Amino acid sequence: MTRNKVAIITGAGKGIGKAIATGLSALKYQTILIGRNLENLEKVAGIIRAESWLESKVIQLDITQTAEVKNAISTIVSEYGQIDILVNNAGIYFDGTVEISETDFSTMLATNLTAQYVILKEVVPVMKEQKSGYIFNVASRSGKVGFAGSGAYSASKFGMIGLSEALYRELTPLGISVTALCPGWVNTEMATEAGTPLKANEMIQPDDLFQTIKWLLSLSTSACVKEVVLETPFSIS
Ligand SMILES: NC(=O)c1ccc[n+]([C@@H]2O[C@H](COP(=O)([O-])OP(=O)(O)OC[C@H]3O[C@@H](n4cnc5c(N)ncnc54)[C@H](OP(=O)(O)O)[C@@H]3O)[C@@H](O)[C@H]2O)c1
Repeated sequence: MTRNKVAIITGAGKGIGKAIATGLSALKYQTILIGRNLENLEKVAGIIRAESWLESKVIQLDITQTAEVKNAISTIVSEYGQIDILVNNAGIYFDGTVEISETDFSTMLATNLTAQYVILKEVVPVMKEQKSGYIFNVASRSGKVGFAGSGAYSASKFGMIGLSEALYRELTPLGISVTALCPGWVNTEMATEAGTPLKANEMIQPDDLFQTIKWLLSLSTSACVKEVVLETPFSIS
């Protein structure tokens, strides 16, 4: 019996992560759904069961808890023996540059950058051993442009793009693909809560991120894509 390829998706309970998890399941990946909200994760697992006839593995986890992350990745490796895809998607947004507290700034970096670093620290050696794998780092257009009023978020996403690019250069020669995804406004709760000026249908849709991943997975291993920037017609400036 051939085993399904294994995909870990952080922040899989809603928004972009949910779209990517259900999309990868439709491609017959064994999905591992990670997030803090168990109810949301179970709902996504239910959708996957109904639509793709696959059982996902649900791991309730705060990605800033390093010991729990390490434990989870080690459990995944012993249970499935491989990690084919990592989607580093979980993240937070709140406004603020220098007027926010140092604690809030640290929380932003801990959730949007250090946690991803810790996950990568665990997953990269597994992929190196396999000599294969694909890492998708969901950054942001705010990792390409420092927008006024959201300096802390931009700092975290610029950092993530730097980390992603370094790994792209280190891992591509070893047969492991790494791409940073840098979307503008995406139609999720995060955008609404951040006060996006765009209407739902003017934003990038969560499924556009899955379609981007699907396209990237379809490319030959000789075609390397460091990053994909997705903009909306309403925020090209
Ligand atoms: N929406 C946009 O306009 C936009 C644009 C560019 C980039 N992005 C990026 O896209 C990614 C997904 O965002 P989204 O728009 O889908 O937002 P969302 O709907 O708010 O979803 C965020 C996800 O991240 C998870 N998460 C947050 N903190 C976590 C933690 N400490 N531990 C575990 N999971 C955590 C949440 O899970 P729980 O609720 O279960 O904790 C949730 O599933 C983020 O990295 C975001 O920065 C979003």
